[in-house]
Amino acid sequence: MAEVTLDLRDLPRTEAYDTLQRHVDAVLEGVDDEIAEMATISCLVHHAFGHLWTGFYRVVVPGALLRVGPYQGTLGCLEIAFGRGVCGTAATERRTVVVDDVNEFPGHIACDGRSLSEIVLPVTDAEGRLIAVFDVDSEHRATFNDDDRVGLERMLERFARRGSPVTATASEVAVSAVR
Ligand code: SME
Repeated sequence: MAEVTLDLRDLPRTEAYDTLQRHVDAVLEGVDDEIAEMATISCLVHHAFGHLWTGFYRVVVPGALLRVGPYQGTLGCLEIAFGRGVCGTAATERRTVVVDDVNEFPGHIACDGRSLSEIVLPVTDAEGRLIAVFDVDSEHRATFNDDDRVGLERMLERFARRGSPVTATASEVAVSAVR
């Protein structure tokens, strides 16, 4: 099951997130690589719900600048300043921001004009430092609710559990090469 990309649009939202969480955990079992985790989460969330854009903006200058990371969807803006748009607001305030109608959000950055609603969540590491934000955009109004917030916050907790970067041993590399 771990090798498939699930479509969970027919399930109630909380059930969909429970299933997706188990799937993400199975696919990423034993993986301790921030970029691989971000890429995998972007892919699985994007296709599970048929979103417009799903991905990470990484903190490259703490307190000042986000730069695009792994994502799925149309071309994303490359850089976003803290405090700008929904992503910059979530980064500055370090809180999840849910926007039902992007036209009502002052300063919203329209990377894709079809985006009508979005959710952006802060991503922190084991030391509590902000390392990224996770941005999910929809071409429908009011797509995201508290079930999305809870489901996605839980999915992103893995970044706060990750240990310090380690150098993989030769046997670990060999194991991961056959996945
Ligand atoms: N809409 C976001 C910008 C990122 S893109 O939509 C991928 C914002 O206002 O921060």
